[in-house]
Amino acid sequence: MKLLLVAGARPNFMKIAPLIREIGRRRQDGAALEFRLVHTGQHYDAKMSEVFFAELGIPAPDINLDVGSGSHAVQTANVMTRFEPVCLEERPDWVVVVGDVNSTMACTLVAAKMGIRVAHVEAGLRSFDRTMPEEINRIVTDALADLLLTPSEDANENLRREGVPDNKIRLVGNVMIDTLVANLEKARAGTLLQDLGIAGEEFIYVTLHRPANVDGRESLTRIMDELRRCADRCPVVFPMHPRTRKMCEEFGISLNGSSGLRIIEPVGYHASLALTEQARLVITDSGGLQEESTYFRTPCLTLRPNTERPVTVTVGSNGLTTMGRLRDEIAETLQRARRLGESPPLWDGNTAGRIVAALVDEE
Ligand code: UD1
Repeated sequence: MKLLLVAGARPNFMKIAPLIREIGRRRQDGAALEFRLVHTGQHYDAKMSEVFFAELGIPAPDINLDVGSGSHAVQTANVMTRFEPVCLEERPDWVVVVGDVNSTMACTLVAAKMGIRVAHVEAGLRSFDRTMPEEINRIVTDALADLLLTPSEDANENLRREGVPDNKIRLVGNVMIDTLVANLEKARAGTLLQDLGIAGEEFIYVTLHRPANVDGRESLTRIMDELRRCADRCPVVFPMHPRTRKMCEEFGISLNGSSGLRIIEPVGYHASLALTEQARLVITDSGGLQEESTYFRTPCLTLRPNTERPVTVTVGSNGLTTMGRLRDEIAETLQRARRLGESPPLWDGNTAGRIVAALVDEE
C-alpha cells in the first residue's frame, strides 16, 4: 500500500510526524507499506517549517511544491496544479491529508477528481462559521474524503448530520497528542523560560494570528493595548506569527514590548509545549493550542466567537472570550485553579496506530 502524505503549514507537521513513525514501525515488522511525503510549501520560513522537521524528526520531504503565500484562490490553485503531476507520477493508493489549511483542501480536490482515495485526519470538526477560511476547507475536504478519521465524538455527530455514512467514519482520537506525549521530555529540558528570565514565575502565553483578530486595524490595536496593560501585572510572552507581525507593521503598531510584554519570533514546537505547560494562562486563537492546553489542563482563553473543538470547552480547560470581556476574564481566570478540566477520551498518544490500522483495514 502506497500513501502520499501531505503537509503544508505549521499545524500540519505535528500531525504528520506520528504517522511517519508508525509507518516506519510497521515496515520494520514486515508490513508492505510505503509513503512519500509532500510539502506544499504553504509555510516556508525556517521558523514556520524547518524547525518542526528538525525537532520532530520528520524526514526531508520527498517532494516540495514550493507554492508560498498568496490569496486563497492563488494559493489553492498553485497547490492543485503542482500536486496533480505528483499524483500522476506516484500513483498512490491513498492521499492522506491532515487538518484544515488551504493545502489540505487543495490536495483533496485533486486526488478526488483523479479517483485516488483520500483519508482525512482530524475530520468532522466544525465551527459553523463560514467566515473562517478553515471552515470552508473542512467542509470541502470532508465532503470528498473516503475515510474520515475523527478526534472526538462531536466530530462523528457533525459528519452524521451531514449525511456521511457510518462506514466512512472512524473515531481514532487526537493525533497531535501523540506528538505531544512523545516530545514532553525534550520540551521540559528547554531553556526558553530561563532565557526570558521568567523561570518559576507566573506568566501568560499568547498566540494570535486569525485574520478576524489581526487583519483589522481597530481589532489588532485593541488587542495589543490590552496585552500591554495586562503585562504591567503579569509577564506576557507573545511569539508573533508572521501574519500578525506584518499587520502590526502595516498599521504602525509598535512592536517594542513594555518590560512585561515579550514579543518574540515564532518559537519551535518544544518551546511552545513548555510555554503551554508552564503558563498560568494561555490566550490564543489557534486550534492546536486549545488542544494542547486542554491536555496540560492549563487554563486557556480563546479569543474567538466559536470553536470547532468544543471538547476543549466541555471537557477541557478552554473558554471562549471576546475583546470586551477579555480584561475581566483574565483577572477571573488568574484567581481560579492552576489546572482545570480533563483530557478527552482517546487523546492518549496512540492515535497514529489507530489511523494506520484503519487504512490497512480498508485494503
Ligand atoms: C495558515 C492556515 C491557518 C493556520 C495557520 C497556522 C489557511 C487558510 N490558514 O494561516 O488555518 O492556523 O496557517 O500558522 O490555510 N508568512 C510568512 N512566512 C511563512 C508563511 C506565511 O511570512 O512561512 C506570512 C505571509 O505574509 C503570508 C501570511 O503569513 O501572506 C499568511 O500565511 P498563510 O499561509 O496564507 O496563512 P496563515 O495566516 O499562516
